[in-house]
Amino acid sequence: MPQKVRKAVFPVGGLGTRFLPATKAMPKEMLPVVDRPLIQYAVDEAKAAGIEEFIFVTGRGKVIIEDHFDRSYELESVLRERGKDTVLDELQDGIPKTGSVAYIRQQEPQGLGHAVWCAKRFIGDEPFAVILADDLILSEKPCLAQMMEARDELGGGNILAAMEVPHEHTSRYGILRPGNDDGKIVEVKHLVEKPKPSEAPSNLAVIGRYILEPAVFDLLENQSRGAGNEIQLTDVLSSLLKTSSFYGLRFEGTRFDCGDKIGFLHANIAFALERDDMKHEMSEIIREIGSNL
Ligand code: G1P
Repeated sequence: MPQKVRKAVFPVGGLGTRFLPATKAMPKEMLPVVDRPLIQYAVDEAKAAGIEEFIFVTGRGKVIIEDHFDRSYELESVLRERGKDTVLDELQDGIPKTGSVAYIRQQEPQGLGHAVWCAKRFIGDEPFAVILADDLILSEKPCLAQMMEARDELGGGNILAAMEVPHEHTSRYGILRPGNDDGKIVEVKHLVEKPKPSEAPSNLAVIGRYILEPAVFDLLENQSRGAGNEIQLTDVLSSLLKTSSFYGLRFEGTRFDCGDKIGFLHANIAFALERDDMKHEMSEIIREIGSNL
């Protein structure tokens, strides 16, 4: 069995410019899908995959993320007095254990690669996961847990979540050049960040879930700026795959780009339709709107 993945990094320092004005004063990671903020889905997914330590790379204006994962004694005592035990349990379950959460300020938004590098001292010399909260995935088995299983089958190595995207959308994603491919697990031969469709090596895109070996930190140390004048994680990973095994997992599930307005609205509808307490009313609303189109 490969070394267990115990720690996850959540880069939450981004500015959320695609979602203004909603994200002017509120972190995009706190946007709710139905009744839970995006970052809560990300933490729950990590927990379900066996993660024990949660490292948030934050920035200015993101303190409410820390408050969200803290106890709220006033609220808890009101809920207790009113007998709202289910809500209370849910609130308490959502909080990682004391001592298992760390927050680091990125100070300057210099890109995803830089955000991951900021977590170096907290990760040390062990494999770790990275979860981008705005990639929300609806699936039976959580995506990171699927990746952990694939990694166990492979005996270790770096692994990322992969998904086919329309060819004209390659410039929105990290795109991989596939090697051996069994339809589920694909060997990653090369990675390019946001290539034009004419230059993309395939239409297989990187989605925001990674399990990485700690060797990535040495490469991040010397990485120069790439696309968008930022330190790109994708560029570092394309160096890492020269010396270390690297795979993509075509995960089972539907991914929603919640950093985008349409993707976010779509996610809200899809997640509401999954909920027993909402699906009937929600279906009615959709039918009614549809019949008026
Ligand atoms: C980031 C990564 C990109 C990946 C994408 C998935 O881009 O840099 O490789 O495909 O997430 O959502 P961003 O969406 O932050 O620009």
